[in-house]
Amino acid sequence: VEIAPQRLGYVMLDVTDLDRSTKFFTNVVHLHISERQGDRVFLRGGTHHHWIVLRQAAIPALARIAMQVESAEHLELLKRRLRDCGTECEEGEGMASDRVARYLRFRDPSGTPLELYVGMAEFNERPPPGHVDVVDIQHVVLFQKDVLSGYRFYTDVLGLGLSDWIEERTAFLHFRNGWHHGIGVTGPLPDSQFGLDHICFSVPDLNNVMRARALVQRFNVPITSDLLKHAASGSTSFYFAGEDSIVEFAFGSSNFATDPTLKPRNLKARPDTVNVWLAGLDDVEPIEVTERMRQRAEANMIRRGRASPRSATN
Ligand SMILES: [Fe+2]
Repeated sequence: VEIAPQRLGYVMLDVTDLDRSTKFFTNVVHLHISERQGDRVFLRGGTHHHWIVLRQAAIPALARIAMQVESAEHLELLKRRLRDCGTECEEGEGMASDRVARYLRFRDPSGTPLELYVGMAEFNERPPPGHVDVVDIQHVVLFQKDVLSGYRFYTDVLGLGLSDWIEERTAFLHFRNGWHHGIGVTGPLPDSQFGLDHICFSVPDLNNVMRARALVQRFNVPITSDLLKHAASGSTSFYFAGEDSIVEFAFGSSNFATDPTLKPRNLKARPDTVNVWLAGLDDVEPIEVTERMRQRAEANMIRRGRASPRSATN
């Protein structure tokens, strides 16, 4: 058995307004509170105790990206690998405070705080079905100071598999659960305390993506990338902005564990790599968007009870 983490386990975020962030993750991301613990709120969508932990803090930050490891034996082997390459690790037992039996904490070459853990507390059942069926926390994309050294750390040391490169800008890496990417590394690191680009949750089908999007639109939460289909993973998704992270809802990602025909590629950085629906449109001549078109749109929105196409009330 290859030694590598099983899956992306959870993301912990330092937030400046715990109530507001909790509301965002319950009302807009459709997660359920599994526990409140002083300055922390644990949220879940499956039987695992948490996918997201929010911690009240003075400064917003990425507190930790945590990866689930299959067994204590594997955790021990990974610890040896980390130490062999000179990575400082803090280990401990955290059932009482963190709801994971054993953990190993360290940083990637860009300083991103990471954790490997075994034995997260579990619930007997998934939360009751809601407006959107959120199946899993699927991936994060992390900014790196140097994408290549980040790529080497996550593959050589932690054992993740390469799924695809986009030129030398972004590497998509998979865990043993096989989702096209459990971690993506991209660069360069922007000038902020966040090494986190976005968190993606997977839903089972297009209807769930659209229901999530309808609610985001209804709440006027800013959509940062509307519906698109990525060439790398083949997933269909949209992105929106929370205070603490960009969030993506996606379905249809390819999976390296279940599809043996998948091979890593080096995709060209092009608009239709980001969104396959832009393929073949390079040479299409734009048409003029006239004042009359805008007026017609405006009148139509007013007739439907909206002051303008970007109005607050639907
Ligand atoms: Fe993504």
